[in-house]
Amino acid sequence: MPISLPPYSGPLESSVTPSRRRFLSNTLLAAAGALFGPTASGQTRKGPDSTPQSSEFWALFADTHIPADPNDMALGFNMAASFQDAVREVLAAADRPTALLINGDCAFRKGAPGDYAALTRMLDPLRRSGVPVHLTLGNHDDRQHFKAALPESGSEMGERHVGILATETANWLLADSSTTPIGEGRFGRQQLSWMRERLDAEPNKPAIIFAHHNPRDGRSKWPLEDTEEFFDLVAPRKQVKAYIFGHSHHWSVEQHSSGIHLVNLPSTAYVFRTGEPRGWVRSRVDASGMELELRCIDPADPRQGERHRLAWR
Ligand SMILES: [Fe+2]
Repeated sequence: MPISLPPYSGPLESSVTPSRRRFLSNTLLAAAGALFGPTASGQTRKGPDSTPQSSEFWALFADTHIPADPNDMALGFNMAASFQDAVREVLAAADRPTALLINGDCAFRKGAPGDYAALTRMLDPLRRSGVPVHLTLGNHDDRQHFKAALPESGSEMGERHVGILATETANWLLADSSTTPIGEGRFGRQQLSWMRERLDAEPNKPAIIFAHHNPRDGRSKWPLEDTEEFFDLVAPRKQVKAYIFGHSHHWSVEQHSSGIHLVNLPSTAYVFRTGEPRGWVRSRVDASGMELELRCIDPADPRQGERHRLAWR
């Protein structure tokens, strides 16, 4: 499974136990072949532990860049305060998400141990509220420090952190494009083989691929190095509906020539170009597509509440 933090209602348990069992039943790892009952209606309901759950609502974060010192700033923004504002908004909503996903660059610059200690503290309110958190790695994350800080981490594929979150409506493939701090990202041959195997196992189930690096588009620095190999794999497989990434700190919703939706999540932390929104995305998935709503850190941002409906190809 991907790097994941289960919900808990008390001090973090260090090994498998009731909280772990709740997590497994709540998030449905395809590795176990499980499907747990999120309803297609999107109605909030009670889970087996009486935790309110919504089958369709996902909170999508990227590029949180949490520093060890919560007072640190970058490009004029306080990353920790922004992240905590976003988390508060997630928790204040009437419908609680199935999970919160963070799409890489969780840490500030080089993935220092203190960054992850700060991040895990800031995730506590979510976990105490019964919201699982799943994280992918970005180029500013450090694998060893991340694994050390997150005792629940694990992977279907050796060094890389990959896994599947399966619900009634879609399989979310959480992938790992992180390679080195500077330079292009890469899935690599072994991970693409893993994707192929997982996708071919369920050809009729919509699949959403979630990883840090943006595809090569001629505009961005340091994109996904094996962009062509990736699209050669996913474009003909009609079950692949969307690729969701971060990395560029830019919010956009586009479409590949194959019909696969390309969703570039904004950063909660900072932007490189004046006027870009910082924030996160509320997502609802149903049998025919996905809805996205941009939630800005600055509520006065002109793009606050921007909505997109993505129809599945
Ligand atoms: Fe980033």
